[in-house]
Amino acid sequence: QFAQKDGFRFFMEKEIYEQSDVVVDCMLGRLSDDEILFDEIDKSLIKGINEIKICACGTSYHSGLTASYLFERLSKVKCNVEIASEFRYKEPLLTKDTLFIVISQSGETADTLEALKMAKAAGLKSLVICNVDNSSMTRTADATILTRAGIEKGVASTKAFTTQTVVLWMLALYFGKAKNVLGSDKLQSELHALREVPKSLIIDDSMHEKTKRLSKRYLHGHGFFFIGRDVFFPLALEGALKLKEISYLHAEGYPAGEMKHGPIALADPELFTIALMPQNLLYDKIKSNVEELSARDSTICSISPLDFDLSDDFIKINETDHYMLEFFEMLIALQLLSMEISVRLGNDVDMPRNLAKSVTVE
Ligand code: G6P
Repeated sequence: QFAQKDGFRFFMEKEIYEQSDVVVDCMLGRLSDDEILFDEIDKSLIKGINEIKICACGTSYHSGLTASYLFERLSKVKCNVEIASEFRYKEPLLTKDTLFIVISQSGETADTLEALKMAKAAGLKSLVICNVDNSSMTRTADATILTRAGIEKGVASTKAFTTQTVVLWMLALYFGKAKNVLGSDKLQSELHALREVPKSLIIDDSMHEKTKRLSKRYLHGHGFFFIGRDVFFPLALEGALKLKEISYLHAEGYPAGEMKHGPIALADPELFTIALMPQNLLYDKIKSNVEELSARDSTICSISPLDFDLSDDFIKINETDHYMLEFFEMLIALQLLSMEISVRLGNDVDMPRNLAKSVTVE
């Protein structure tokens, strides 16, 4: 068993460290000098599409939410995202100019699979972004894009999320190019950033050490708010989910600008705020949100390339020139922090209580 973990303590740790390599596989053959290539997609799949609807569960839902920002920003296509178990029973209105995208690591999650079948029955074109070839979803959808993350054993998903997000970012660019809404300069700079993703996922020892040190105090947190704006909001949700899954601590992800509409009432020194503060997107906005929390004595841990004087703790990420690279740098910090808190609490990191890797019941 030890050998399988290649010297790492847990599968989750191994999978966190593998992310830089698996995204290379994920992008292989899909990134040319001036465009994104998806052999898996037939042009007819996107012909006449005016809207994208994404359905997923758990961590895969968070990559879907991230993608909704990217699709509207880069492809100028309306995009909405739903949790599969909600979508199924709400009598959704489906129109045939909508591309239905499901996202799933396993390809077997019951609610997501049923949502896909509903969309198919309504005559929608469908695409699955999946890590397991020949799974129920890949057999059902019109088209499949495989994430090529390799087998993921840790129940808490890490590399599957990363590769899903990379595929979705590439897909947003693919759509943008096909729809002619992306200028060539913009496309070039996005492609350049994509090529930098593997680098942004390389783990600095100093960052890992920092999360180990922080875990000593953070395991005593009574409640955690992970906050961010734009794509850093779904990332905040994902950070909170990781902590819940393996540490059993109460954590919520929240849009930073929404804290003042209720949750800020909880602020006191026992409330730990994990603030995602990218340099390249809405820095001043998030800064003022964090200032409000700091003024109410919440303990603040900022994850950012920039030191921020109101932070009690600071996890430094590398400076980059694209917010999505900051996204991946922060993701690593969030994954490591949850894992180290879980380790210190003596929990089973790879097999947390009450959870299953794949949920094939409703
Ligand atoms: C389970 C797992 C989660 C996962 C979710 C969706 O709850 O514990 O880690 O995100 O299912 O799984 P899927 O395979 O559809 O991505």
